[in-house]
Amino acid sequence: MTRVLILGANGQLARHTATVFLRTTVATLTLYLRRASRLKNPDPARVRIVEGDVLDTQVLTAAMKDQDVVYANLAGVMKPQAAAIVDAMHSSGLKRLVFISSMGIYGEVPGERYRSVLDPYRDSAAVVESSDLDYTVLRPGWFTQDAAIDYRLTQKGEPFEGHDVSLNSLSDLIVKLATTPGLHVRQSLGVAKA
Ligand SMILES: NC(=O)c1ccc[n+]([C@@H]2O[C@H](COP(=O)([O-])OP(=O)(O)OC[C@H]3O[C@@H](n4cnc5c(N)ncnc54)[C@H](OP(=O)(O)O)[C@@H]3O)[C@@H](O)[C@H]2O)c1
Repeated sequence: MTRVLILGANGQLARHTATVFLRTTVATLTLYLRRASRLKNPDPARVRIVEGDVLDTQVLTAAMKDQDVVYANLAGVMKPQAAAIVDAMHSSGLKRLVFISSMGIYGEVPGERYRSVLDPYRDSAAVVESSDLDYTVLRPGWFTQDAAIDYRLTQKGEPFEGHDVSLNSLSDLIVKLATTPGLHVRQSLGVAKA
């Protein structure tokens, strides 16, 4: 049974993925978010809710106790958040991190110029990639509500293929990454509809 800590648990993709974890696996979840009153516990037998800011090292480190996988679904000031996660994982002895970023952070989307709005995504991915953690950075295209689970992956160094990707596809991939030892470890993957 995998124990998964979801950071930024009130995010759109995080809420979607938590539902998929509960429906398709026996994983237990710790949902970490600011202003926890916004979230109703979907399954108290398997889900714990922790109120905290990722930048609060003490609360974050405490939440990492007895976890197997950290799934970071964040936005905003991403670089210091990535640094806080790497530090807290070191002090907790945790290795496995799934980190949500965005397409375009390496200027890898054909026909699109790099935009400075991506700086927090590029800089936080660099923090994660320069760590010694067993990370997987995901660089999704635009999220859609398509029901289909239908995606292709591109590696760092390859041109990004595609444009958008369903939440169902991303959640499927995140659940596989969290529950399959060694899958795409130390890779940064573009994810888009096949
Ligand atoms: N939507 C798309 O098409 C698309 C495409 C590619 C990439 N992305 C990126 O993929 C990521 C996940 O997407 P999403 O739609 O799930 O994003 P989202 O709904 O904006 O969720 C991000 C979450 O991060 C939380 N957060 C930010 N700073 C935090 C902190 N210091 N401590 C704790 N929590 C913090 C926010 O919490 P609060 O609710 O408390 O603010 C929010 O719930 C985002 O970075 C998004 O930009 C999105």
